[in-house]
Amino acid sequence: MPEPQPIGANERPNAVGAMLAVRDPASDETIASLPMATAADASAAVDAASQALGLWRETPPAERAAVLERGAEALLRDVEALARTITLESGKPLGEARGEIRYAADYLCSAAEEARTLMDEPFDGRRAGLRAVAVREPIGVCAAVTPWNFPLAMLARKAAPALAAGCTMIAKPAEETPLSAIAFERVLTASGLPPGTFHVLAGDPGTIVSTWLADPRVRKLTFTGSTETGRLLLRQAAEQIVRCSMELGGHAAFIVLEGADLDAAVAGAMTAKFRNAGQTCICPNRFLVHHSLAPAFAARLALAASSLIVGPGLEAATQVGPLISDAAVAKVRRHVADALANGARLVCGGETRRLPNRPDRFFEPTVLVDCHPGLLCFHEETFGPVAPIAAVRGADEAVDIANASPWGLAGYVFGSSQQAETVARQLACGVAGVNEPAPSNAYAPFGGVKWSGFGREGGRWGIDEYLTVKYLAIRA
Ligand code: SIN
Repeated sequence: MPEPQPIGANERPNAVGAMLAVRDPASDETIASLPMATAADASAAVDAASQALGLWRETPPAERAAVLERGAEALLRDVEALARTITLESGKPLGEARGEIRYAADYLCSAAEEARTLMDEPFDGRRAGLRAVAVREPIGVCAAVTPWNFPLAMLARKAAPALAAGCTMIAKPAEETPLSAIAFERVLTASGLPPGTFHVLAGDPGTIVSTWLADPRVRKLTFTGSTETGRLLLRQAAEQIVRCSMELGGHAAFIVLEGADLDAAVAGAMTAKFRNAGQTCICPNRFLVHHSLAPAFAARLALAASSLIVGPGLEAATQVGPLISDAAVAKVRRHVADALANGARLVCGGETRRLPNRPDRFFEPTVLVDCHPGLLCFHEETFGPVAPIAAVRGADEAVDIANASPWGLAGYVFGSSQQAETVARQLACGVAGVNEPAPSNAYAPFGGVKWSGFGREGGRWGIDEYLTVKYLAIRA
């Protein structure tokens, strides 16, 4: 095997010297400045990943698994430093950043378990004298494009199964949050990944990803981000017939059925909605509450939401950090203004909280009532800490409203367990919590339907996305 070429666009200035400034959304201070990868760097990363592929795919799955498990241990050993990096570049509270690291480590462990199950599958091919075997092979060089809201976990969710399957991966993190991704690469390299097997390139998506998708050696694209960008990437991926997994936007409904336990529903709504300041693809965007419970639900939710501590993520007490950008604040403001202009009423929040010497990016946890499907927030993902509540007559109306959305990532149903499960089965989405506000788990399938994309991440479903099946028809 030839030695892979050194690649390291993150460490050295590029030919034109363009730099990527990484900014703390809670202070606007520049926390790092990185060389932007050029098209040549992007191509060099594909060269290295292609060269590394031969060795890595032949590495026994148990050895690949061991590297991933060492990576998980290293992440957990370094929680405090990594959590600080995640908080600094994404704004999320430190406690959530620590949770994200555990979540990332779980993806490494889950993928390691799956690697150990990889084996040929002899089957009855119904042909006399033929031995039929299905062989699960790595797809090859994979490209990952990851978002800023979970800068470590979303990359781990892609890299872990790809590497477990025997693929190599090149990854482009969001421009806002490259530091966690670069730290993740260092952790995996120090855990024994051969050079070229996994490499992160920071910079302009147009330059990097277009180069990758034009290169016939790249056989898989995995993306988490907006539906709009997903469409663009799918068009580009069509050129080389690249296999894709797309985890796109969400617009989750949170349904509270007649007779639901109100304490559980409110506690669940708090967890599901305000995590990461509402900047989560699976967070509820539409609360559909039985009319008999709607006033009490709204009052209790508003009480709990308005007691959340809003502030910079690095401060220990903070529960809700800043939004990622001014554009994000503007979008949340637009949704709230549209709701108020069209019949909704504000119960709490509704504006940013001004903090001394801080940018105007700290949006108050907001609860709106008298909402209805005509509102902008019922049609677009808000991606902020806003809980719009609509009263509904019953489960059928709630399901109709929930399923009217073109998105279908997640949904939540709170109520008596049997009825809640029945309703969850009727939801057009990929992940549903039944009296459970936090269904995500590295051992479970995660992904959507309709405009929320396709493909599944996590557990045995996750590794399948990086494998192709070869049928061997063997005549002895
Ligand atoms: C996401 O926002 O897409 C990830 C949320 C999760 O994994 O729970």
